[in-house]
Amino acid sequence: MEQYVIKGGNPLVGEVEIGGAKNAALAILAASVMTDETVTIENLPDVRDINVLLQAMEEIGVKIDRKDRHTVVINASGIQTLLVENEYIKKIRASYYLLGALLGKYKKAEVALPGGCNIGSRPIDQHIKGFRALGANVRIAHGRVIAEANKLSGRHIYMDVVTVGATINIMMAAALAEGRTIIENAAKEPHVVDLANFLNSMGANIKGAGTDVIRIRGVEKLHKTEYSVIPDQIEAGTFMFAAAATRGDVTVRNVIPKHLESITAKLIELGCEVEESDDEVRVVSSGPLSHTHVKTLAYPGFPTDMQPQITTTLALSEGTSIVTESIFENRFKYVDELAKMGANIKVEGNTAIIDGVLKYTGARISAPDLRAGAALVIAGLAAEGITVVDDIYYIERGYEDFDAKLRGLGAQIEKAESEKDIKKFQLKTG
Ligand code: EPZ
Repeated sequence: MEQYVIKGGNPLVGEVEIGGAKNAALAILAASVMTDETVTIENLPDVRDINVLLQAMEEIGVKIDRKDRHTVVINASGIQTLLVENEYIKKIRASYYLLGALLGKYKKAEVALPGGCNIGSRPIDQHIKGFRALGANVRIAHGRVIAEANKLSGRHIYMDVVTVGATINIMMAAALAEGRTIIENAAKEPHVVDLANFLNSMGANIKGAGTDVIRIRGVEKLHKTEYSVIPDQIEAGTFMFAAAATRGDVTVRNVIPKHLESITAKLIELGCEVEESDDEVRVVSSGPLSHTHVKTLAYPGFPTDMQPQITTTLALSEGTSIVTESIFENRFKYVDELAKMGANIKVEGNTAIIDGVLKYTGARISAPDLRAGAALVIAGLAAEGITVVDDIYYIERGYEDFDAKLRGLGAQIEKAESEKDIKKFQLKTG
C-alpha cells in the first residue's frame, strides 16, 4: 500500500494546471457507447476511476484506443454483451452510467450494482424510477441492475431529489427514446451540462441542461464526434483551499471561473484575496483566516465534494465555524484523523462545529475516501512536522499526479511504498 509522506509548514506558491473533470468524463465515456461511429474524447483525466470504466467498456467489446494520456478514441460498434460486471467496476459509482447508455441504445442492460466512495447510503431509486417511466422493466437480481424494454417512450419525469447521477442516466436513455422527455427538478451541475453538450454534438436534441427543467427530444441514432471534457471544478477547488490553508499564493490555470463561484465566495469570507481572469483564478492567503458557516447544496450551492477541504481549512481559522453536510450523511469520517493533528471539531449528526486552532501538527492518518483524503493532504501541507497519509488509493481515484502538482507549488510531498521510504524522506527533509 502506498502512502503520501509530507513535510508541512511551507506556503504553496505558483501555478497549477487543472485537468479534465472526472465526473463529467465518466458520464461522457459511458455515453460514447451510444453510437456505432467513432468518438474522440480529449482532456480526459488519467485517474483510476476513468481507467476502470475504460477497462470495463473494453471487456464488453468496445474498442478503446488511448492516443495519449488524455485522449481516447472509442468505437462501440463491436459490443458483444450487455452484461457489465467485473471485480473493479463494482467499486466505482459511474458504472451505472452504462445502464442509461446501453438501455438507450440496445433497450437492454445488465450492470453490477454501483459502489463508489463510502460517504453514506447511496440509493438508486430515482434512476430506476426514471427508466421505468420511459417504459423499461427494471429489477435487481444477483447483485445486478437489469433493465429492458421493447421500446422507450418519452415522458414527463419529476425527480424527488436533486440527483446528478439519475439526471445523467435518464438524459442518456431519453436521448434515444421515442418522443419528448421532460426532466423536472434536474441537477444543474457543470457535468450535467457537459454531458448534454457531448450528446448534442453526437446529434441528440437536449435543451435546458444547467436549469432545473431539461427537455429531450429523442432521436433515432447518434453519430461520431470529437469532444473535450470541461476542467475539473473540484480539483481546482482543492488547490484553492490548499493555498488558503498553507497561507500561500496559487493560480489555478485552465479553469472555468463561473463553476468556482461558490468556492471563491467562501475563500473571500475566510479573508483570502481571489483574482479571476478568463481561465485562471489566483488565491492569495496572507493574513489570519476568519471563521464562517457553510452548508453543502446542489449546484450552484457549495459542493459536497469540497466539504472536507473547507472544514480542514476552517479548523485553522479564528473563532467558531459551522459546516452542515446536506447531501450525504456520512461525510465527516476524516474528522477523527484531523483530531490526531490537533483539530478541534465536534460532529453532531450532519453538522460539524469547528473551534479554530493555531496550527496542525504532523501525524499518521488515513484517507477514508477520495475528497476527505485530499483534505487530509491539505492538513499535512499546513502542519508542523511530518504527516503520513495512508490509503492514498482513494485519492488516486480522482486526482491525477496530485503529489507532483503539489511539488510544483513548492510542497515537500512524496509517495512512499514502505516504512523505509518514509524514514528516508524524514532524513532528507530534516
Ligand atoms: C455524484 O454522485 C458524484 N459522483 C459525487 O462525487 C458527488 O458527491 C455527487 O454527485 C453530488 O454532487 C459521480 O459523478 C461519479 P447524487 P451521485 O445522485 O450521482 C440522493 C466524488 O468525490 N439520491 O447527486 O451518486 C443521494 O443519496 C464523488 O467525486 C437518492 O436519494 O450523487 C444524495 O443524498 C463522491 N436517490 C443525493 O441524492 C437516487 O436514486 C445526491 O446524490 C440517487 C441519489
